[in-house]
Amino acid sequence: MVSPSAVSDVGPPAMRRAMGRFATGVAVVTATGTDGTPHGMTVNSLTSVSLDPPLLLVCLTIGARSTDAVTGTGRFAVNILSARQEHLALRFARRGEDHFAGLPVTTGSHAVPIVPDALAHLDCAVERHFTAGDHVVVFGHVRRVCERDGEPLGFFGGRFGDLTCRGHEPVHWFC
Ligand SMILES: Cc1cc2nc3c(=O)[nH]c(=O)nc-3n(C[C@H](O)[C@H](O)[C@H](O)COP(=O)(O)O)c2cc1C
Repeated sequence: MVSPSAVSDVGPPAMRRAMGRFATGVAVVTATGTDGTPHGMTVNSLTSVSLDPPLLLVCLTIGARSTDAVTGTGRFAVNILSARQEHLALRFARRGEDHFAGLPVTTGSHAVPIVPDALAHLDCAVERHFTAGDHVVVFGHVRRVCERDGEPLGFFGGRFGDLTCRGHEPVHWFC
């Protein structure tokens, strides 16, 4: 059945709207440019790929400064934002800005900048990367993780919001 809102000629706005129905968390990918400048980019394309070895992926816009810093140095960090960090999600999504201006820059391993008070930091070495459409798919081998308690920042339908999951019992995975 074709619903009134079906679109068959899928351009960027339709793709963005449809994928916006997939609720996600929000993270900032950080890296240091080859000239030493700290860069960061808000992302929601983060996916866990493998537990053993620990691999994740992010899809980064071709030509963005953070993308070049990640692929140029081979190191990056994923900073998973808490519900109290919407302002940082907005800051790191603004095109062409000095994203770290006025923020204290704390560095993790390999001088990669980290976002303070994030729910989790995952330090990664680039495993491989390739171009797909207008993005670069970057696989990271996770070298170190650090977590703290807190509520996650969510993103759905183009809006930030609450993503708290209040199921009665945590789900246990069976292999
Ligand atoms: C919630 C949210 C999620 C985003 N996810 C991604 C993403 O996964 N990949 C990406 O390339 N850009 C994503 N963006 C856009 C980038 O954050 C933005 O284009 C970038 O920070 C601009 O940085 P630049 O100045 O280095 O170009 C997202 C933006 C928002 C608000």
